[in-house]
Amino acid sequence: MAKPKVLLTRKWPADAEAKANELFDVTLNEDDHKMSVEELQDAMRNYDAVCPTVSDFIINSQILDIEERRCRIVSNFGVGFNNIDTEAAKAAGVVVTNTPEVLTHCTADIAMALLLSVSRRVGEGERLVRDKKWDGWCPTHMLATKVTGKKLGFIGFGRIAQAVAHKAHHGFDMDISFYDPYPPVDDVIKQYNATKLDTVEDVLKKSDFVTLHCPGGGSNTNLMNKERLSLMQPHAFLINTARGDVVDEVALVEALKKGVIAGAGLDVFAKEPTVTEALLSMENVVLLPHLGSATTETRVDMGLRSLANVKAFFDGEEPKDRVA
Ligand code: DGY
Repeated sequence: MAKPKVLLTRKWPADAEAKANELFDVTLNEDDHKMSVEELQDAMRNYDAVCPTVSDFIINSQILDIEERRCRIVSNFGVGFNNIDTEAAKAAGVVVTNTPEVLTHCTADIAMALLLSVSRRVGEGERLVRDKKWDGWCPTHMLATKVTGKKLGFIGFGRIAQAVAHKAHHGFDMDISFYDPYPPVDDVIKQYNATKLDTVEDVLKKSDFVTLHCPGGGSNTNLMNKERLSLMQPHAFLINTARGDVVDEVALVEALKKGVIAGAGLDVFAKEPTVTEALLSMENVVLLPHLGSATTETRVDMGLRSLANVKAFFDGEEPKDRVA
């Protein structure tokens, strides 16, 4: 039987591409360009499976509802799948999968890196040294904010959030609280000695650090708006490794400028790769280019997980990570 025809919309790490070549009749994106809507429509016509990712155009009805579609499964390379209109996929009868679990720890590490960097002024200090502006140690130089023992609040308390909570509670003795409409079971909550709160607002009011771990899009768009930012404490920091659209960047800039909050650590942005200009010159923000899952180990595992979902589908099994 002929192998399924599979398209990877972006370049993947070599080991994951090698596995794709072994399993399927695969087409790679050798020059790693962002595919146009027309290319994605052609992909729907010409491939049994398409493996897209977060930086592609949204796979919506304009792409899915193409005449003579051949594609039966869209296997996302990524845990977040706001780059796929799952309702349109369901309506078209196309299966959608994602890649949970394999990126949990690396994304949590980046959340901790941002938390530590912004509160301890790491980026600012590094710029000072590189710019040859450091004129030596003194007792009042670049005083920052202590992390150990502080209150860390979570908006969303899924896998990645829990991995952050583990590192923060057991490594930095932080006091954990969270809001999640679908909270984990009590045994999980106990592992971090965490406090479950009833609203987002409750978390914002009590935390020294707020870290976002909810999905993007829908009702979470601009969740962190002017009103909610104003509920945070003036010494508090906002960390975002979830999706950029969860934060209203205009309101954030305003809050940072006026001292409504102390700083922000951002790995994701509303209109990637564009970053709101005003953020670029602020010393009290740390900005990363969506690095959450960016380790070789994790990106290979994400590729293998995406391929495993495609394989299961064409083997007649239920893909492990089906989301639609
Ligand atoms: C994810 O997996 O959701 C990462 O943000 C990359 O898409």
